[in-house]
Amino acid sequence: MFDYGKIKSYKAVGNEVSIEFENIVGKITVVTEDIINVFAPHESEDHRSKAIEGDKYNGARFEVAESDGAVCIKTDKLEAKVYDGYKVDFYDRDGKMLCRDYRGKAENSASKNTLDAAQIAAREAEGHKIDIRKKYKIEVFKQIDGDECFYGLGEKTGYLNKRGYDYEMWNTDNASPHVETFRRLYKSLPFFITLKNDCVFGLFFDNTYLSSFDMATANADYYRYGVNDGNLDYYFIGGENMPKIVENYTYLTGRMNLPQLWTLGYHQSRWGYITEDDFREVADGMRKNDIPCDVLHYDIDYMDGFRVFTFDPKHHPDPAAFLAEMKQKGFRAVTIVDPGVKVDTNYSVYNEGLEKGYFAKDAFSGNVYINKVWPGKSAYPDFGNPEVRKWWGENHKVLLDAGADGIWNDMNEPASFEGELPADVIFTDEGRVTNHAEMHNVYGHEMCRATYEGVKKLTGKRPFVLTRACYSGTQKYALVWTGDNTSIWYNLQMAIEQLCNLGLSGMAFAATDIGGFCGNTTPELLTRWIQMACFSPMCRNHCCSELRQEPWVFGEPYLSIYRKFVKLRYKFIPYLYNTFRTCTQTGMPVMRPLVLMYEKDENVKQINDEFMIGDSILVAPVVGQGQTRRMIYLPEGEWYDYITGEKVSGNKWFIREAPIDVCPMYIRSGAILPTFAPQSYIGEIDNDETLYLEVYGENGKYIHYQDNGTDFAYLDGAYNEYEIVNCNGEVSVKQTHTGYEKPYKNTKITYIK
Ligand code: GLC
Repeated sequence: MFDYGKIKSYKAVGNEVSIEFENIVGKITVVTEDIINVFAPHESEDHRSKAIEGDKYNGARFEVAESDGAVCIKTDKLEAKVYDGYKVDFYDRDGKMLCRDYRGKAENSASKNTLDAAQIAAREAEGHKIDIRKKYKIEVFKQIDGDECFYGLGEKTGYLNKRGYDYEMWNTDNASPHVETFRRLYKSLPFFITLKNDCVFGLFFDNTYLSSFDMATANADYYRYGVNDGNLDYYFIGGENMPKIVENYTYLTGRMNLPQLWTLGYHQSRWGYITEDDFREVADGMRKNDIPCDVLHYDIDYMDGFRVFTFDPKHHPDPAAFLAEMKQKGFRAVTIVDPGVKVDTNYSVYNEGLEKGYFAKDAFSGNVYINKVWPGKSAYPDFGNPEVRKWWGENHKVLLDAGADGIWNDMNEPASFEGELPADVIFTDEGRVTNHAEMHNVYGHEMCRATYEGVKKLTGKRPFVLTRACYSGTQKYALVWTGDNTSIWYNLQMAIEQLCNLGLSGMAFAATDIGGFCGNTTPELLTRWIQMACFSPMCRNHCCSELRQEPWVFGEPYLSIYRKFVKLRYKFIPYLYNTFRTCTQTGMPVMRPLVLMYEKDENVKQINDEFMIGDSILVAPVVGQGQTRRMIYLPEGEWYDYITGEKVSGNKWFIREAPIDVCPMYIRSGAILPTFAPQSYIGEIDNDETLYLEVYGENGKYIHYQDNGTDFAYLDGAYNEYEIVNCNGEVSVKQTHTGYEKPYKNTKITYIK
């Protein structure tokens, strides 16, 4: 671990305080009154952030003073005290300790049990993998006081509270069943929230190299961040409660744009739909079985020999005509695009990329670096180069002209079938030459940025870019899914925790493959999965299994149950859309763990199998095989059982029956929920005709948002807003913003009292 040495002097310039230590000059930057950056230039003087765009300094005032051997930097909300050895402690404005660096010995508290080399070898002989705890050049140790819970860190496996896990940020394509022991997955979101009994704060470690997060496993007295390269560059994020921390984190790293309305519909996918007739059959199946559906996904088989930006001439001879036919039936198309470009001198994308030097290069030979992915030998576009991003974006014209409505970015960790790309493969970061070790975790991020910008320019619409790999800040460009899960109950259970933690990490628009991607699903698992996922931010059934898993394959009663839940999703799409609108303004996720809404309630800190959609809908799905009743906790307040209409008081645990056709759901008293009339796809009927409202309880207030659901005109004010007030059961609707040319003609209200 780097030894910073003693403080020699300090100096404030602008919003930065340089602190000269014996061995390096550190820098504390005030970003806002709630956000303070801690930096040391181990590799470069600049931050080189991929997550943060533009200068986020908001003019916050601060004072600097020296006191008791510390340099103290105080904003209107926080105080950072910097000591020798670059130890930093954070207090609130009134002097209450929030977070302090650990000063004790960094050793394994279970050290009496550590194994010697021979003992490790003996265990490994049987195939056990013994994780040796590494030491890192840059390490940050934070003191554990005892009551900490940790949330965030993206889609990592395991339970909601990340205390007791040890993870690494290194985007990894791993198709083995995703289980709790995984340390790496597809995404790097190095941000988490620490919740204590008397305070809450966030820490964002903005360094793209492989990093490690030990959430109090090695030693019960501290949690530790470690990285070997790049800079020490982390943000302390304050705020009075968890929503405020998420708001501040997404202020820093950006927020999603509104999605197009159709993207909130049901998506059907399968790696295995090949011909036009395969897609027709699925589309017809949806309509025949009365399952609402808006989107079909075109997996790699639509391409010509897996060459990106092509269509297979045999199976898709006239994609424009075919996709137009599908659109007529109300089906949008999302086409997959992988980064690997097939090495083929008869292929224009490869030739152009080669000629212009757009691919990553081998460090030794200087030639294009080649590895293997779906098309066989492939080259990797160097997305850190703005010219490459522009070129890549423009290439989407082929797909968009044919009628694609959205793009699915996969394999962008980047995946490679012949071993991982060596650390020294040459990539660029804007104008600067660098390597794979630095760019790996942002490869997916830069690819999404290229796709987003290209699609936006070519269509003028809100791009739908679905990605598997990402980094903090990717939410500005793409939504995510949790990759290749498996048809096992644990993966359904974990899906809730993954989606909730993704939301807390800024990635509010997220999905899991419904039914499970690998392995064969069962009727019961698929049914329970749709019950949970019909409320998840994006809703897609996708698989690669031998057996199919379209909603109808298991017959009755499963088909009817599946239909009921997809219809439920469609009913609540305007509510979901409003929740997305809030997310674009505050970062508040759509799918929320209970702790985000009720952090003072001890009971909810570790509830893994209930969640909220927006402020008002609580969902308690069944995620265990054979289970037909479950324990439910309702937080404070009055709730309505959505199915029976019965009123239930919160702040208690109880058992509810949940046979296979039931997913327990509770609506907060005071809720006002906008709904859609039934339709097979969004826009089949005119949704701007009538505003439908479900009003729960005697008093409540709600803001409803309406726009064209398509483009960016809303940013220029082309939207309507309505303030709906329920005062002792009397409901009034007042339009408070006018800008969208189709205000509702009627209002229909259903009262639930
Ligand atoms: C990867 C993706 C999966 C996709 C498959 C084929 O495994 O995660 O969703 O179906 O590649 O493209």
